[in-house]
Amino acid sequence: MDALGMGEDEWEELQRNLQATIPVYDKINRFATLGQVSRWRKMVRRMLPEGRVLEVGCGPGSFAEDLEGRDLVCLDPIPEMLKTAEARVNKARSSRGEPPANFVEGTAESLPFEDDSFDAVCSLFSFRDWFDKRSGLEEVLRVLKPGAPIVIIEPAKINAVHGFFGVIWMKYWVAAYARIVCGVRDHPWKWLTKTYSEFGTTREYVDMLKVVGFEEVKSRLIFPGMATIWYARAP
Ligand SMILES: C[S@@+](CC[C@H](N)C(=O)[O-])C[C@H]1O[C@@H](n2cnc3c(N)ncnc32)[C@H](O)[C@@H]1O
Repeated sequence: MDALGMGEDEWEELQRNLQATIPVYDKINRFATLGQVSRWRKMVRRMLPEGRVLEVGCGPGSFAEDLEGRDLVCLDPIPEMLKTAEARVNKARSSRGEPPANFVEGTAESLPFEDDSFDAVCSLFSFRDWFDKRSGLEEVLRVLKPGAPIVIIEPAKINAVHGFFGVIWMKYWVAAYARIVCGVRDHPWKWLTKTYSEFGTTREYVDMLKVVGFEEVKSRLIFPGMATIWYARAP
């Protein structure tokens, strides 16, 4: 695993661990982010235009549930995540009088959608897990309409020192809480530390977005060590 992606075996092991997080996902996430995660999700919602929106790596639907007024498509490679997300998101949409969202099994690296078919793509806390980040971004660019935005949020590092303190936070503080909540020593949150440690710097992904062909690439650190937002547009 490195800043560009990871091997097949590692990705499969990561998927098994991600699936195991489903029952405690939101609880541990709130703790790990000191309760800030809902605020960050709101920021991303505000950045998304009306129209057809794709969330890549929707997980159990924690973001998609509150995304109102969009024609929403949620994609994830784990069927169990999609099942959890579908029940949760479509219940919320139906209570708001909105049509159901669509749930599609797949990966960022091979998006099962037509060219130029989305008004926006977002990915929250999933980009870190893509096994080939550059191919995933190329695919996102392909499915976006001209001028449409991509919004990504992840805990990137500013530099190696910053990354070191981030790893300490994840490895000791978050892992201790996850051990208590999950009730086992060998809890799936260990993989969070691993993917965090091997994720790159904010700058690396700004450069990657530019190399892939995105325009107006911007990044903003919204909480040191925990959240950076990247925003860019298809040409
Ligand atoms: C930590 S969850 C994020 C859930 C949600 N987006 C949120 O805001 O909390 C990461 C999700 O990314 C998915 N994922 C992992 N690798 C992926 C890939 N290559 N393409 C698309 N999704 C992927 C995982 O299956 C997992 O459900």
